[in-house]
Amino acid sequence: MKKLLTKWHRILAPRATILVSTVNREGVSNAAPFSFVMPVSIDPPLIAFASVEARHTLKNIRATGEFVVNIPSVDLLRETWICGKSFPEGVSEIEQAGLTAVPSEKVRSPRIKECLANLECLLEAEYQAGDHWIVVGRIAAIGVREGLFDGEAFDLVTAQPLMHVSSKDFASLGEVMTYTE
Ligand SMILES: Cc1cc2nc3c(=O)[nH]c(=O)nc-3n(C[C@H](O)[C@H](O)[C@H](O)COP(=O)(O)O)c2cc1C
Repeated sequence: MKKLLTKWHRILAPRATILVSTVNREGVSNAAPFSFVMPVSIDPPLIAFASVEARHTLKNIRATGEFVVNIPSVDLLRETWICGKSFPEGVSEIEQAGLTAVPSEKVRSPRIKECLANLECLLEAEYQAGDHWIVVGRIAAIGVREGLFDGEAFDLVTAQPLMHVSSKDFASLGEVMTYTE
């Protein structure tokens, strides 16, 4: 039982992978992948992800009260992995990964240009849950790559978002099924 519980979250997979971009007090950008992520409210629009205490991302969010959720596609696997490496504080993973930081509309944290979508967030709440902190953001502005989202359906098959399985394993979307009676 104990052995099964150490990696239990690997059963709940694949999970959406996001790149959270932030800035520190000096304005230096940071980006890191997270896959403990979920929508929590539609109106108001709230999104949550879970972070361990040690992350620079969490420190920056606490310092600035904002962040951007960027959604990478499968062709950004390498860049996403580089962003997940441990760099000294103040080193921008966005630059290290060869990604492009572009200005956001409502927050100082940059959007990552190459991503499928960018959700600009203001920190709404933070809760401790076991060994992680649940960070809840209120979406203040959204950018989506042209042609992927009409406000109803997101074109997942074209978008091919990057899904996280565990450790170095990732997945892509095979098929979208529609239930009919
Ligand atoms: C695909 C992937 C998903 C990850 N998901 C999480 C997560 O949900 N929560 C977390 O605390 N760390 C997660 N990590 C680890 C952080 O991304 C990693 O420790 C990163 O270096 C943190 O960067 P930062 O200190 O600049 O915030 C994940 C790493 C990868 C590669």
